[in-house]
Amino acid sequence: MKALSQKRRHPLAAIALLLMGLLVTGGLYAVATTVNQAKASTSFSANDAEEGGKLFAANCATCHGMGASGSQAGPSLVGVGAAAVDFQVGTGRMPMQMNGPQAYKKPAQFNEEQTHQLSAYVASLGPGPSIPEASVLDGQGDAANGGELFRVNCAMCHNAAAAGGALTRGKFAPALSGVSEKHIYEAMVTGPQNMPVFSDANIGPEGKRDIITFLKQIEANGSPGGADLGALGPVSEGLFVWIAGLGVIIAFTIWLTSRTS
Ligand code: HEC
Ligand code: HEC
Repeated sequence: MKALSQKRRHPLAAIALLLMGLLVTGGLYAVATTVNQAKASTSFSANDAEEGGKLFAANCATCHGMGASGSQAGPSLVGVGAAAVDFQVGTGRMPMQMNGPQAYKKPAQFNEEQTHQLSAYVASLGPGPSIPEASVLDGQGDAANGGELFRVNCAMCHNAAAAGGALTRGKFAPALSGVSEKHIYEAMVTGPQNMPVFSDANIGPEGKRDIITFLKQIEANGSPGGADLGALGPVSEGLFVWIAGLGVIIAFTIWLTSRTS
């Protein structure tokens, strides 16, 4: 003990302590980051990323640049995450055919394996939202809570019945029927184009699961009240009343006056 307390006063003791502290923090950091990496890349193999890189160079690099670093024709994809690629390629929006106000949904051009490889490649470039786990996509959440979250966060663009709506400058929020659970989740975490990102701090995974449950429920239930006229709200309903309702009244008046003469 005595020897130790003497060494403590040694002029080099402070430096030794500093080095030890740095070593410990550095070591802990290295362990923590490798654990994180292992978690993020569980479903992707190195081979996936390599194959994805080749597909990317052939199909996407013209707009997104080599190494996905971006060009005049498309943004950089470093850090957009696997979820963004899975959404954009899975819904056929990418590869984009032509420049326009919005990338349109079209039949997917890549099969599931190729989409997986492209996602692996982009995920390998930088950390970003990963493809959601099946447990939040089961549609077994709380539909009532999901409906409330939807009306607060999404209805101003997508309409309360999720029938879609127009935005400014030729853009639009699409109708949400027929969109897969996975793509709904990915749209929320990546915010494609004019849609905002709904991070977990904003709407947690449980809330997202509830929203998906709500959307799938209104899709399955159809319209029990009769023809929904596109569920576009007062415009289509008002138009229907003006044209059909007033039409009947006018026809009836003409018929009445024609009988009296
Ligand atoms: C004709 C040009 C073009 C091609 C080809 C193309 N993209 Fe894109 N991409 C764009 C543009 C432009 C945007 C930005 C759209 C926007 O946000 O308005 C975009 C956006 C994206 C996004 C969303 C980025 C984000 O911030 O969420 C992803 C992911 C993406 N592209 C992946 C791909 C992949 C993968 C391919 C190849 C299969 C591809 N793109 C091919 C032009 C292109
Ligand atoms: C500011 C308006 C806005 C808000 C708010 C918004 N979205 Fe969107 N959303 C959009 C636009 C614009 C697109 C089309 C993007 C594209 O085509 O790339 C879109 C696309 C989507 C898609 C993809 C649909 C498809 O056909 O592939 C889903 C799913 C979606 N939104 C769900 C939601 C949910 C759930 C919320 C609420 C948590 C929400 N959105 C909030 C504007 C919005």
